[in-house]
Amino acid sequence: MMIGYRDEAYTGASPLESLVDAQMEVLDFIDGLIGQRIESGASDDMIGFLAQLVASGDMPRDVALLNGLNVAVGGNETTPHTASLTVDAIHQERAQWLKVVAGDVPADVATQEFLRWTSTNSYVQRLTVEDFEVGGEVIPSGSFVTLWNMAANRDPAVFDQPDTFMIDRQDNKQLAFGAGVHRCIGAPVATLEIQTFVEELAAWDKAFVVVKEPQRLRSNFMLGMTELRVEVVDAKELGA
Ligand code: HEM
Repeated sequence: MMIGYRDEAYTGASPLESLVDAQMEVLDFIDGLIGQRIESGASDDMIGFLAQLVASGDMPRDVALLNGLNVAVGGNETTPHTASLTVDAIHQERAQWLKVVAGDVPADVATQEFLRWTSTNSYVQRLTVEDFEVGGEVIPSGSFVTLWNMAANRDPAVFDQPDTFMIDRQDNKQLAFGAGVHRCIGAPVATLEIQTFVEELAAWDKAFVVVKEPQRLRSNFMLGMTELRVEVVDAKELGA
């Protein structure tokens, strides 16, 4: 609800109320966990690690809460949407997908193209710390800048035929996880999850067929779905 608050699938009384309610609920939840860890002294998980920093006075509690919120969003929204969009991409590009099934395209190569193609987290924000020139324009120090990694993933200066899905794309410099010191902390686990999903789908004797136009989530931040209707058919029927 926090991410999809503008979409009628999630909006309650109003988009803004939905956003605030959902955010407060997640923050309350994390606050409760931090309180428990401070009481027990546990530091053997991420929330415990943050809790002990709060207890020692090395991290303000609101910063710990926002870190928890970031992981909750980062871990819960992106990867499932990427998996759903991957199912749809496989459906749209069945002939290319059959190369993965046949073992002609490795799952890790295909995974990189699924990540580039879906790019579920469409932008990030930065604050410039010095004047910076890009594309002939100077962005002054102290400006908030939106970096569209979705657009970067379609950059014709970097990708051959950027608007074409190429399951065997080589040297894929996709930026679905962003770049720099704040590059997605979950990138290794998310890549592993999606690659495992791809491997399992390729090895499966069944296949998903999308039977209805998928419903996209109304959000310019999370490029996800609210509905993906599929049927499970025998993979042989589709030429596998
Ligand atoms: C396919 C799945 C995923 C995608 C596309 C994705 C994408 C991104 C992007 C674009 C950023 C911003 C990077 C930047 O600011 O430059 C980010 C940050 C982050 N992601 Fe992910 N993410 C995914 C999965 C995950 C998972 C599974 C987790 C947690 C287990 C996670 C946790 C985070 C966190 C905590 C940050 C903030 C890092 C920081 O600010 O230093 N993400 N992610």
